[in-house]
Amino acid sequence: MECSWKTVLLLVCASIGVQYTAIRTLRDSLSGPCQGAYHCRTRKPRDSKWRALCDDSWVPTESSQKHILLFATTRSGSSFTGQLLNQHPGVFYVFEPLYHVQQAFTNSSSRLRRTLDRRALLGAYRDLLLNLYTCDLRFIENYIRPEPQDHVTGAFFRRSSSHALCSPPVCPEGAARIAKGSPDEIWCPKQCGALNLTLASLSCLSRGNVAIKTVRVPEVGDLRTLTEDPRLDLKIIHLVRDPRAILASRMMAFSDQFRAWKVWNATGRQPRYVDLSQITTTCKDMLASTETGLQRPTWLRGRYLLVRYEDLAFNPMEKATEIYRFVGLEMGDRVRSWIAHNTNSNGSPPSEWNYRYSTTRDSRVTAETWRLRLGFDIVRTLQDLCNDTLTLLGYKQVHSLAELRNISLSLVEPRTFQPMR
Ligand SMILES: *[C@@H]1O[C@H](CO)[C@@H](O)[C@H](O)[C@H]1NC(C)=O
Ligand SMILES: *[C@@H]1O[C@H](CO)[C@@H](O)[C@H](O)[C@H]1NC(C)=O
Ligand SMILES: *[C@@H]1O[C@H](CO)[C@@H](O)[C@H](O)[C@H]1NC(C)=O
Ligand SMILES: *[C@@H]1O[C@H](CO)[C@@H](O)[C@H](O)[C@H]1NC(C)=O
Ligand SMILES: *[C@@H]1O[C@H](CO)[C@@H](O)[C@H](O)[C@H]1NC(C)=O
Repeated sequence: MECSWKTVLLLVCASIGVQYTAIRTLRDSLSGPCQGAYHCRTRKPRDSKWRALCDDSWVPTESSQKHILLFATTRSGSSFTGQLLNQHPGVFYVFEPLYHVQQAFTNSSSRLRRTLDRRALLGAYRDLLLNLYTCDLRFIENYIRPEPQDHVTGAFFRRSSSHALCSPPVCPEGAARIAKGSPDEIWCPKQCGALNLTLASLSCLSRGNVAIKTVRVPEVGDLRTLTEDPRLDLKIIHLVRDPRAILASRMMAFSDQFRAWKVWNATGRQPRYVDLSQITTTCKDMLASTETGLQRPTWLRGRYLLVRYEDLAFNPMEKATEIYRFVGLEMGDRVRSWIAHNTNSNGSPPSEWNYRYSTTRDSRVTAETWRLRLGFDIVRTLQDLCNDTLTLLGYKQVHSLAELRNISLSLVEPRTFQPMR
């Protein structure tokens, strides 16, 4: 048993070793932020780190490196929540890398049968996540279009949502800006130029912890092979939000796609051509994942935290502390001060928080703006479609227009979803 484990580890190590021979050489020639920051460094002298990684005594679970997955759905507040992780200086944060995979699959494999599609796509998602968690950024090149040249690309999706990709060693020019706390999105693409993925890998290795936000994995069960992978120590933050708020937010953000809904909202009558399937799927996936998480299967034990966006929005500091405790990192002053600057003075919070407008401080009232943005007829239909999801997550239903619009009547039931140990 022990022998076969060692064989597996040796194979894994050998392949990682090959992939990183080049990177190691480059890293050794760099100074500053990259130096001596491998996760092996506490165990072995710096210059033997790769031997340390492949050493017989190396046991994956002893690694202090954190692998964090922010598992969410579109317009559920994941940009804001992701920034809580991005602010940590020891975290290499990637905003939705699976975008590239989906793009690649959407255009090339539309004729494949659906189930095959889904399995292949999910497999590719998992492969990419695994590679990113081990700081191998060469793998994602297979999916980026146009194809990166010399491991450099100008097309990395939402690169500027990541501090690591806008600061040294990836972008030396970014140091001062990041220190000042100015939002990366405004200057990063201009000042940093194209992204050198070799440098990005180095940055990832030097930070030690990797956090990835995705909205493209349907259910938490789809992540099972990753939670069981001995190379990873995955922590999943499952971010949920009131589906009524999600819908309202999607209507605002993607108005072309939601034209029929807008007609419905304006007239109070449901057009026949309105597409209910997207939000229904969102509710079903959210329900399935939450049920799985709360049932505490062995493969998820200690790895799953359910977070309602509303709780985070109403009590950012407290909830962020809980998240950091769960992932096993110190929250630190930079995260605290970012929270203080991006939520309003009485400690309440963002609802339609948008990275582009990150200086905006929203109030508790705007956290519930969906209640002013949706017609009652839509809300009632949604409540029927998403009944079980609302009930399980503690979101109260409304039974009249007056209840819907009466903001002093909270629709978020106090709930604690115990983090699993
Ligand atoms: C996929 O196809 C569409 C339409 O043909 C095109 O606009 C888009 O750029 C393609 N996407 C990629 C990633 O090639
Ligand atoms: C990317 O960075 C590496 C490491 O510093 C460097 O050797 C390589 O030349 C860079 N690539 C390009 C195309 O500049
Ligand atoms: C729905 O209609 C109301 C007026 O009844 C309007 O204030 C709101 O902005 C609309 N919502 C959307 C998402 O268009
Ligand atoms: C919603 O579900 C609850 C419990 O699951 C049930 O009591 C209630 O009747 C359902 N409401 C609707 C509108 O289906
Ligand atoms: C709004 O709800 C509160 C709390 O239930 C209630 O006291 C108040 O009368 C309601 N206001 C209106 C206008 O219905």
